Amino acid sequence: MSKPNVLLVPYPCQSHINPMLQFAKRLASKGVPATLVVTRFIARTVRFDAGPVRVDSISDGHDEGGLPSAASVDEYVERLESSGSASLATLIEEGHFTHVVYDSFMHWVARTARGLGLPAVPFSTQSCAASAVYYYVNSGLLDAPPPGDAGARSRPFAGLPGLERWEFPSFVFHDGPYPALTAPALAQFADRDVGDWVLLNSFDELEHEVLDGLKRHFKARAIGPCVPLPAADDSGDVDRFTYGANLLDPEDTCIKWLDAKPPRSVAYVSFGSNASIGAAQMEELARGLLAAGKPFLWVVRAGEEAQLPRHLLDAATASGDALVVRWSPQLDVLAHRAVGCFVTHCGWNSTLEALGFGVPMAALPLWTDQPINARLIEEAWGAGVRARRSDASAGVFPRGEIEQCVRAVMEDEDGRASSTRAAARRLRDAAQGVLAPGGASDKKLGGFLEFACAVMD
Ligand code: UDX
Repeated sequence: MSKPNVLLVPYPCQSHINPMLQFAKRLASKGVPATLVVTRFIARTVRFDAGPVRVDSISDGHDEGGLPSAASVDEYVERLESSGSASLATLIEEGHFTHVVYDSFMHWVARTARGLGLPAVPFSTQSCAASAVYYYVNSGLLDAPPPGDAGARSRPFAGLPGLERWEFPSFVFHDGPYPALTAPALAQFADRDVGDWVLLNSFDELEHEVLDGLKRHFKARAIGPCVPLPAADDSGDVDRFTYGANLLDPEDTCIKWLDAKPPRSVAYVSFGSNASIGAAQMEELARGLLAAGKPFLWVVRAGEEAQLPRHLLDAATASGDALVVRWSPQLDVLAHRAVGCFVTHCGWNSTLEALGFGVPMAALPLWTDQPINARLIEEAWGAGVRARRSDASAGVFPRGEIEQCVRAVMEDEDGRASSTRAAARRLRDAAQGVLAPGGASDKKLGGFLEFACAVMD
């Protein structure tokens, strides 16, 4: 039987590269050659530590400056498709690839690959719940409540809870942010080849009802979590974790700072690689964290720094009770014994990483799939506490709410903190179990390779 040789094409941003690189590493660990495709700009400016995975590049039409040099996200997405299809075709023609695994947001990759005779398999980097909403809305099976009907919810459907309109993943709506992403997001699973697998970065225990629902429509296979985790039988002494592709430079000083803190005493605060929370939310956050009285490590990306209320933080940073960094080695932070709470925007990678290291969450979801992920964190898994704001869909999470969430996760007055922590640890054990040799996600990876070989023969 001939061996697959897989080309993986993520959307070129941190949160999509991370899980697909990790999946590529797992393929390579099974002896399958794997090549990750990024843009020329990213290939030139980022130092990859991809191990056995080869890294190659295509043009996004912005070879000199990447996304920051584009006029808008919509313009970027359009040029990525037009320039990317041409250079991807060249890459495929010059290589010996047998399969393409592509980010399910990028249909043009599938069209290019299939046009050249290669099978193309979609990979969703988001939760199954978010993927399911896109699929069901696109298929006419699920409707969002109408605009302006605050508090109205969609009907619970196939494992999905009833959702308010603002909790629908943002790209569902044609008047949402980045209109160029609406059509590809809605049609993510519509143009697969019949019989193809659809790979989802989740695992059965997390989302089994939603997965069962999706399996009635296509071959949904949860092969995650695609997160570098310690092995289940690890002593816990392994000190560093990495995907191997940091688009920003992590500030390792924060690990030394954490080393000096007692176990589970620190709140780690990060809103991922995209979100800008704005000056008003930063002030409420700073005041809420200070009022909660726990040491905190807060990631504020360089572009956001001007909005940080430094005057509020001066005393805490001077005394060592607070540390602000521009980018953290997030996996190492979450793995650190000093971290007792993750104040998160609930991006899907951050969510999986928190679960993977057993860290309970204070959830401040902003947009896209984050509101639905926050519902899962609090209601389905009990692994965190969701912050509320007076207008559920907009505005800032107030300081008192942030303080309460951090306390609820870190202080054990009513037993909530220990049950939240226990839920996160149960899911950590489950995540390690599914990735271990013979675990559910490991077996599915084997199944995927059998499927890939069968398609070739
Ligand atoms: C975006 C969306 O916001 C998210 O909801 C969606 O699921 C994927 O696309 P992002 O906002 O960046 O992603 O969040 P997330 O999915 O959590 O990914 C952020 C990644 O950056 C994580 O893998 C995290 O480990 C990494 N990170 C973040 C760092 O390495 N250091 C940091 O300081 C912050």
